[in-house]
Amino acid sequence: MSYGFTMIHDFDLFDAKGYLKENFLDDPPDSEDLGLISFFDRHTDERELQLEVFGGPTIYQLLPSIGRVKKIVFAEFNASNRKEVMDFIASAKDAFGWEAHIRAFLKERDHSSYEPDITEVKRSISSLVADVIPMDIRKDDPLLGYPHKRFDLVSCHYGIESVTDDKAAFLGYFSRLVRLLRPGGRMNLSMLEGATHYFAGTQVFPAYPIKKEEMHELLKSFRFKDIVSERVIPSNRRPYGSVFYMTAIKG
Ligand SMILES: C[S@@+](CC[C@H](N)C(=O)[O-])C[C@H]1O[C@@H](n2cnc3c(N)ncnc32)[C@H](O)[C@@H]1O
Repeated sequence: MSYGFTMIHDFDLFDAKGYLKENFLDDPPDSEDLGLISFFDRHTDERELQLEVFGGPTIYQLLPSIGRVKKIVFAEFNASNRKEVMDFIASAKDAFGWEAHIRAFLKERDHSSYEPDITEVKRSISSLVADVIPMDIRKDDPLLGYPHKRFDLVSCHYGIESVTDDKAAFLGYFSRLVRLLRPGGRMNLSMLEGATHYFAGTQVFPAYPIKKEEMHELLKSFRFKDIVSERVIPSNRRPYGSVFYMTAIKG
């Protein structure tokens, strides 16, 4: 299919700053981000060890884990994305601030959002993230030798459907995520729905057009239970009509 622009498949070229600018500058945040924060804040329960996969250059998706999760291992393929996250943790001067997302999160938890609270949330995230590590979902060992047991919570926001347009690859990546989760563990997913591509600044990346119902069936086929989901229409103009969030327990 021709889109009139060049599709990039090499995620070493992913433009961290471009992606942040394209997707996360709105104040208040767009409906996709507000929906994600609200959904996972309502559905994340207490867990010891979270694995964040396809973490990107972003930390907004970790906000619902505050006060519920003891420790997060943050895994991401691209080195400049990992640097963005490490800069946030180190409170580096030019780190992306996430204040609008933090205010939305505080509102969700019914807290005031005056400055000391925002600083406190930033500190909480920084102390929750125990490690920022490389990953490659194309490998049989996606955490590339990182020593670990299986995780209590595997969290994947715009990951497996956002790095390939190939169904077999998508299914293979999902089964690797399942392997990383212990029985009784929770899987949190956010997905572009029916997308063929998305933007990071001037770059265009491929997507597998998963539908909410298909993902629900896939989770069931892997014996997941207590599946809950929600669909949201983006408030900004995007090359996809909706996103959905899904959470389930591994049987
Ligand atoms: C659409 S971004 C999602 C970022 C973030 N989770 C969010 O919510 O915005 C997809 C991410 O997958 C990463 N990625 C690309 N190829 C990968 C691979 N083979 N293994 C793991 N992650 C990969 C990209 O570098 C990018 O950060």
